[in-house]
Parts: sequence; C-alpha cells; structure tokens
Amino acid sequence: MEKLTEEKDSILSLVKSPYIRSFIKKYKLGYIIGALFLILIDYLQTRIPIIIGNVIDGLEKNNISIDEIGNKAITLAIVAAIIILGRIFWRLLIFGAARKIERDIRNDLFEHLEKLSQKYFNNNKTGEIMAYVTNDLEAVRQAMAMGVLMVFDVAALLMFTLYNMVTEINVSLTIAAVIPLVFIALVTSKLGPTLFRKFASRQDAFAKVSDFVQEDLSGIKVIKAFVQQEKEIEAFEKVNQNYFKENMNLMKMYAAMNPVMTSIAGAAMAVAIAYGGYITVNGAITVGNFVAFLQFLGMLVWPMMAIGMTINIITMGSASLKRIESVLHQEVEIYDSDNAKSLDNFEGSIKFNNLNYKYPDTDTYALENISFEVKRGETLGIVGRTGSGKTTLVNLLLRLYNVDKNSIFISGTDIMDIPLKTLRENIGYVPQDNFLFSDTIKNNIDFSNGSLSMDNVIGAAEFACVHDNIEDFKEGYETIVGERGVTLSGGQKQRVSMARALIKEPEILILDDSVSAVDTDTEEKILNNLEKQRSGKTNIIIAHRISTIQHADHIIVIDEGKLIEQGNHDQLVANNGLYNSLYQKQLLEKMIDEEA
Ligand SMILES: Nc1ncnc2c1ncn2[C@@H]1O[C@H](COP(=O)(O)OP(=O)(O)O)[C@@H](O)[C@H]1O
Ligand SMILES: [Mg+2]
Repeated sequence: MEKLTEEKDSILSLVKSPYIRSFIKKYKLGYIIGALFLILIDYLQTRIPIIIGNVIDGLEKNNISIDEIGNKAITLAIVAAIIILGRIFWRLLIFGAARKIERDIRNDLFEHLEKLSQKYFNNNKTGEIMAYVTNDLEAVRQAMAMGVLMVFDVAALLMFTLYNMVTEINVSLTIAAVIPLVFIALVTSKLGPTLFRKFASRQDAFAKVSDFVQEDLSGIKVIKAFVQQEKEIEAFEKVNQNYFKENMNLMKMYAAMNPVMTSIAGAAMAVAIAYGGYITVNGAITVGNFVAFLQFLGMLVWPMMAIGMTINIITMGSASLKRIESVLHQEVEIYDSDNAKSLDNFEGSIKFNNLNYKYPDTDTYALENISFEVKRGETLGIVGRTGSGKTTLVNLLLRLYNVDKNSIFISGTDIMDIPLKTLRENIGYVPQDNFLFSDTIKNNIDFSNGSLSMDNVIGAAEFACVHDNIEDFKEGYETIVGERGVTLSGGQKQRVSMARALIKEPEILILDDSVSAVDTDTEEKILNNLEKQRSGKTNIIIAHRISTIQHADHIIVIDEGKLIEQGNHDQLVANNGLYNSLYQKQLLEKMIDEEA
C-alpha cells in the first residue's frame, strides 16, 4: 500500500521538479505553439461530423444542391489538409522540445558523472549508471512528449466533442452514451499502478539481461580458459527466461485490457444506437444529427483511454526522473577549495607529512603515518608487496580521493589548496591497468592535447621504446587499439600508455608498475631515457623489480600501509630489512635464470 501512495505522490513530482520546470521554461515556445496547433486540430476534427451531418440532412430533406455538396466536399478536404499539416507541426514542436530536454539532461548527467569521485564509481555498477542514461531518460522523454501531448489532447478533445454533442445534438443522449465510456477511464486509471509495477519489473529484468551480456563479453577470455561456457549459457537462459516472463506478464495484461475496452466502447455504441435511433424516429434529432453523434462517440473512446495512459506515462517519467535526479544530486566531493590559489610556478617537489588515509566506508587505514620528501628533479622509487598501498599513495597525489589538510604538499602548497586542473595537468600518470581507448594509437598517445604534431607523438613513442613496435603494425600510428581493434601485448600497452603520459612533459611523472611486462633490456633503455630527458623534473617509479628503482635518488618501502624503510639503494641494502631481503631474492632468481 505504501508503494501505491508513493507512486501517486510521484505523479506530480515531474511537474513540481524545479529541474524539469527550468526546461519547460527554456522550451516553452515549442510547447505553447505546439499545444495551440493541437487544440486547433482537435477543434477542426470535431467540425467534420457536423459537416457530414448537414449533408445527410440536406439529402434527406432534398434541399441541398450539387454545388453545395461540392462546396462541403472542398471544405472537408481543406479541413483534412489543415489537420494533416497541423499534426506535422505539433509533432515537430512538442516532440522536438522533449528531444531537446532529453539531450540537455543527458549532457547534464554526463558532465556530472565526469565530476564524481572515484568513490562513486567504486560503489555503482557501470550497467546501472548506463540504465540512467538510457532507460530512465527515455521514460522522462516519453513523459515530456507523449505525456504533455496527451494532457492537452485529452482536455481539448473532451471539451470540444462533449460541447458539440450537447449543444448541437442532444443532452440526454449524450449523458446516456457517455456514462459507459467513463468506465474506460476508470479501468485504465485503476490498472495504472499494476501496469506500472509490471513495467518497472520488466525494465529491471531487461537491465539484468544487458548487465549479464556486458559482463560476460568483457570476461569472455576467462570464461573460455576455465571452460565455463555451458554454465554461463545456462545462467543466461535463466536471466533471459525471466525477462521473457516479465514481458509475457505485461503482454497478458494488455491483451486482457483490449477486449475490456472494446466491450465498453461497444456498450456505449449500443446505447447510442438504441436510444439515439429511438429519438431520431421520434423526430427529436435529425438523421444527420444521429450520424454525427455516432462519430462523436467514436472520437471519445481515445481520450477516455488516454486519461489512464497519461497518468501512467507521467508516473513512470516521474519515477525515472527521481533516479536521474539522485545521480545529479550526488555530491561532487572533489572540487577546488575556497583557498585554492593558482600556482604561478608549479614544480615537482613533494612532501608527505604524517599522512593517514582510510578509504571511504572502510575501518582500516590503507596508509598510516607516511612521511617522506622528494625534491624537484629527483626520482623516487616505491617498493612493497602487492596490496601494501603503493597505488593508493599515488592516487592520493592525483587527488582521486580527498586527504586531510597538511598531509600532502606539492610545490610547497597543500594539495587540498591546489586547483585540480593545475595539479592534474602537471602530473603524467601511467596507471597500473594501462587503460587504452578504442581509438588509433596516435590519438591514444596524444590524448591530453589532441592536436600535437606527429613529431611529438613519435618522440613520445620513441622515449617509451614502443615506436618500433608501432611501425611494425600495418597501419602504424593509425592502428586502432582497444575493444574493437588489435590487441596489444601487456608490454606494448604499458609503453603506449607511458608515451601518453610522457608527451605531456609533466613536472611529475608517475609510473605505477609500468615496466613489469617489459623485458629487462627495453626497461633499461626506458630508464636511461628517463634519466637523460627528464632532468629537473620529478619521477615516481613504483616497481616490483628492485633493478627498476635501484638507481633512484630516494627509495621508500611500504608494507601493510606503513613506510618501513627509506633511503637510497646502498643504505637500504645495508639496513638489512625487507628491501634487502627482496633484493637478495631477486638476485638469486636472476642467477638461477642465467644458469638455466
Ligand atoms: N577503492 C578501494 N576501497 C577500499 N579499499 C581499497 C580500495 N582500493 C584499494 N584498497 C585496499 O587498499 C590496500 C592497498 O591497495 P593498493 O594501493 O592497490 O596496493 P598496491 O598498489 O601496493 O598493490 C589493499 O588492501 C586494497 O585492498
Ligand atoms: Mg598497485
């Protein structure tokens, strides 16, 4: 029961929403002129039965000339032409306005999603977010198009038709025939909530199907490698069967509604024919009146049905609008503080001052008590076991999450007071997962600027030691990579995404485990390039292999979120702690490799 009242409340929420109101205001011209056309057409439609009735009466009384019949026919043709043209106009105007609103909301949604923090995307599935941008937006558009249209159409048609029936034909006949029709309106609006629920669970079932397909295709390699196709097919059949069932439920309801509506309309027609025929014979109305009345009655069936449908469309639109607004109202957590001041000279000095960090909604510290310093132009190496907090540390440097004040300073300024744009423009980041877009290699490398010269792109690729690989592809730099293109090897992906960061010539370069899939010779070349070409700029290198970072100016060792050792390579080896044990282990592995 609670759910029903909630649905009823939400009928008006669409109209009440200040967000939607702002759009109605913005596009009011389209709506107003469209509605005027609609009302004009509805008016003209109700003239047709009157004209036809006049002709019939003239024929019956034998007092109409051929010329007059011709004139009436021409009038009818003109009215029909205006109706057809008018329909085109209101369609363009009202549906056009709704399409504009749809476009604007989609832009707003996308813009807002781009601003939301990593936390939001960790907590919400991509499939769900996609549903807001597609299904829910579609429901809102329907409400703003069909919903608005029907409100005007129903009101105008009811008014004009009933007015004509009452004034031009007969009051008691109108009352007698319209009473059964009222049941159509009652039935459709009563069934509304049920229909709404069935519709909503159909949408849910659909979302599950599309989610399933999306996830399955992304993981197709794993599924094949583990020979799980049979199981997946079975699971999919279940999800699909559920969608089928929900569709059938909805269809059964529509199927049952149709004969009910037709019967009611038939009953109204029967009353009209019986009673109307009787008073025609009595001479209370003319034959022309009688024919016109039957036509009017036919014209009333649609608005009666539309009352319930309008309520449903607007209710569904309101429910979807709520979901969309919940995204739009989702707080943007990462934004420029009021004291954010532009830095005239951004330089890559970094200071961690007793930083403590917990991920949102977790209880344990991912990083605890971290203090270290990197001067401009230095290279920092970070080592530690998987899960120790290395990626977290660099994510904080990019301010993908907020940190406490006074815990991280970059370029001598509290990170919380650096404008986000300045901060991120000056950092080149090669993420651990090396995401590449489904686009050409060139565009992937020139991602941050979008209009750099080919020389720049090739320069960056040479720096990252991937130029030769790219040249080997048939299409070279125009080769499309990613989902719908060639698959790069892990090492090639790492180096393309490194070129993407290098081309920015950033003050701070962050490599998160970026050479793990690159052979040691190539790795050495890349490290040499870094040393030669990035003098005066800061590098942060996270690595598995000690060899990758052993020449760094400063090395920190992270373990279980704590900084347990720091210094240069020699100091750390002498320290005989975790660093040394990792180093010795890797030396041993190398020796065994070389012997083999
Ligand atoms: N978004 C997140 N929410 C909660 N915990 C996280 C999140 N990302 C990483 N962690 C946790 O933080 C710890 C450090 O992870 P991470 O920085 O990725 O380690 P590393 O890069 O050293 O392998 C791990 O225990 C990991 O499970
Ligand atoms: Mg990591």
